[in-house]
Amino acid sequence: MDIEKLRSQIPVTQNVVYMNTGWSGPSPTPVMDAIIKRLEIESTLGPASPQVLESGRATRQDLREALATFLHVSPLELTLTQNTTEGQNIVMNGLDWKPGDEVITFSLEHNSVLVPCYYLERRHGTVTKVLPLEPAEDQESIVAKVEAAITPRTKLIFMSHIQFKSGLRMPIEQLQELARFKGVLTLIDGAQGVGHIDLDLRELGVDFYAMPGHKWMMGPDGVGSLYIREELIPKVLPMKVSGHAVDSGHGYEDFVAKPQDIQKFELTTTNDALWSGYRAAIKFKEQLEVGEAEERSLKLASRAKAALAAIPGASITSPLEGPGCTGLVTFSVAGWEPKELVDALEAQEEISIRAVSDPANVRMSLAFFNTEEEVDRVADAVRRMVK
Ligand SMILES: Cc1ncc(COP(=O)(O)O)c(C=O)c1O
Repeated sequence: MDIEKLRSQIPVTQNVVYMNTGWSGPSPTPVMDAIIKRLEIESTLGPASPQVLESGRATRQDLREALATFLHVSPLELTLTQNTTEGQNIVMNGLDWKPGDEVITFSLEHNSVLVPCYYLERRHGTVTKVLPLEPAEDQESIVAKVEAAITPRTKLIFMSHIQFKSGLRMPIEQLQELARFKGVLTLIDGAQGVGHIDLDLRELGVDFYAMPGHKWMMGPDGVGSLYIREELIPKVLPMKVSGHAVDSGHGYEDFVAKPQDIQKFELTTTNDALWSGYRAAIKFKEQLEVGEAEERSLKLASRAKAALAAIPGASITSPLEGPGCTGLVTFSVAGWEPKELVDALEAQEEISIRAVSDPANVRMSLAFFNTEEEVDRVADAVRRMVK
C-alpha cells in the first residue's frame, strides 16, 4: 500500500489530523469527481433525457454489483438506502412481530439500535432484553450472556459489529452460530464494520446487515445499503411502497406484489450523483489488498494505545489486546471533560477526533490512511495537555 499516494487523493489529510472516520469518512478526490461529473451530465443534457435516465439506472446497477462483490453476496440481496439506520428500520418494522417476542441487544448500542427496539415494544408489545456490556468485555463472556438470555420467545439478536462507544468488536461468528442453532435471527449494525474490517457476509452467515456508505467506506453522506439473506427477503414487508414493489403492467387495482424482489424497499427519484460517488468510493477501496486496511488500522491502534498508556492520567477504555480490538480507540484524561479535550485538540492542534458518552470518553478512529506520525502527534498533544 502506497500510503502517501493514497493520502494525496484524500484532501483532508493535507490539512488536519483526521481521526473521525467512524463518524464520517473523508471522501477521496475520485469520489468528489464522480459526483460533480454526474451533476454536470444532468445539468448539461437534462436530468430527464433518455440517455441521462439510462446512465442513472446503469450507475445504480453497477453500484449494486460492485457492493455485492465487495461483500461476497448477490446483488439480489442488497437494497440501496440512505444510511445504516434506514436499513435497520426496514428490518425492524418489516418483520412480523407478536406480543411477547423477544429482541436481545446490548447496553452500549447506538440509538439507531436501541430506539427501533423500544419503538417495536410500543407498537407490538415485544420485549427488549438489553444485556449489560463492558467497553472491553471479553468475547467468551459476551457469548455466555447471550446464551443465557435466549428463550423460546427470542426472535432476534440486534447488535453492532463494532461498538461505537469503545471500538469493541463483537464475536459475531460465535453469536451467529449460536443464533442459528437456537433458530434466532440476527440483525447487525455494520456502521463501524463495513470498510473498516474485512467482510465476507456469506461466510459470516448473518441474516441482515445494515451499512453506511459514508464512514469507513469513504463515500458521500446520505448513501448506504442493507443486506438481507435471500430466503428472508419475502419475510420483510416494505413499510413504504412504490412501483418497485409491484409487477409493472398492472393497474393499481390488480397489482401483483413482488415479495422476493429486494428493490421493493426502494422508492422513486433518488440522487444519482451520490450513487456515483458511492461507486467511486468502492473503486478507491478496491486499490487495497484484502486485509490491508484492517491490519493497518489495528497496527495504528496498538501504537496509539501504547503511547496513551504511557501518559500519566490517561486511561484507555477500548480492548487492549485480542479479537475485540479495532481501529477505534477510546480513552479519558484526568481533569478533562472529553468534549473539552476534543475541542482543545481541534482548536490548538488541528486534530479531529470526537467525544462519546455513557461512558464519557474521547474516540480516535484510525483508518488505513492515517500515519504513525499522526498517532504520535496526537499522543504528544495529549501529553502536553495533561493538567
Ligand atoms: C454503531 C452505529 N450505528 C448507527 C450509526 C448511525 O449511522 P447512519 O448515520 O449510517 O445511520 C452510527 C453512527 O455513528 C453508529 O456508530
